[in-house]
Amino acid sequence: MSATLELRKLFARTEIIRAIGVHNALGARLGERAGFDAIWASGLELSASHGVPDADILTMSDLLADIRWITSAVSSPVIADCDAGYGNASNVAHMVRLYEAAGVAAVCIEDKVFPKTNSFIAGRQRLASIDEFVGKIGAAKAAQTDPNFVVIARVESLIAGYGLDEALKRASAYAEAGADAILIHAKDKSPQPVLDFLSSWDRPVPVVVVPTMYHGITGSELERAGAKLVIYANHGLRAGTQAVMEVFQEILRTDGTTSSEDRIAPLDTILELQGTSELLAHDAKYVRSGDPSTNGTRVNHSRSVEG
Ligand code: SPV
Ligand code: MG
Repeated sequence: MSATLELRKLFARTEIIRAIGVHNALGARLGERAGFDAIWASGLELSASHGVPDADILTMSDLLADIRWITSAVSSPVIADCDAGYGNASNVAHMVRLYEAAGVAAVCIEDKVFPKTNSFIAGRQRLASIDEFVGKIGAAKAAQTDPNFVVIARVESLIAGYGLDEALKRASAYAEAGADAILIHAKDKSPQPVLDFLSSWDRPVPVVVVPTMYHGITGSELERAGAKLVIYANHGLRAGTQAVMEVFQEILRTDGTTSSEDRIAPLDTILELQGTSELLAHDAKYVRSGDPSTNGTRVNHSRSVEG
């Protein structure tokens, strides 16, 4: 089944869709194996993994190169965080064509001006006009070739300090422009602003939520409140960062790695995650010696894990 069809099927089911944020192929594999329904290629994670702020510093091409690795590593649908669309409506159309060809099942664009800044950074949260963003949604929908490709319109009004009415007005305009889903983002520690949006939203367009700040609410509670997709946007990056900081310090503190060994993934786990057994099976089946002296006789030059 294509990733786009798979995502459409997930949207059609009763249960909420759970997506996990990643920034590389390994993270995507870990998310898929953990049982998440979908993968969120997070702009924050991708930027952080390159050591730059989440502020449109990386170009669309930079991000697309990473996203190709992510889509090629998993069969789960990948939802790409496409920030403000990397320019105007023409940039959005170009982006959709490339992202669709890269195997992405959905793109999410947000109604901030380009260059955008991460929603949790104080200041620089300027919204685009509704008119401009409606143009971007229209351009995205017109550019897709697969009818199942999903365009998510992200409403940043609550982030920028406007109230529920502005959020609903924008979401309605984006739904009318053809958005397949609306992401309502919020930075309050309470889920109330998002719950208010969900209870006021009366259109048949599904709603996506990102409970990074209001993490006290469960996925099931969000489902009961009417959300269709919940994105845990940056937890892999944060879990990994914390673990790496601790182990690095422990190695220096103890002048060795023995005390860290039971807290880090065994090497076998890494070899398995990167597809080493598939490589060895492939070698055994197809790799020939190429040595004319063997006259076509197979010689086992295949690699072994022990090296
Ligand atoms: C991301 O993961 O990059 C997002 C979500 O856009 S957030 O960082 O919560 O804005
Ligand atoms: Mg982002």
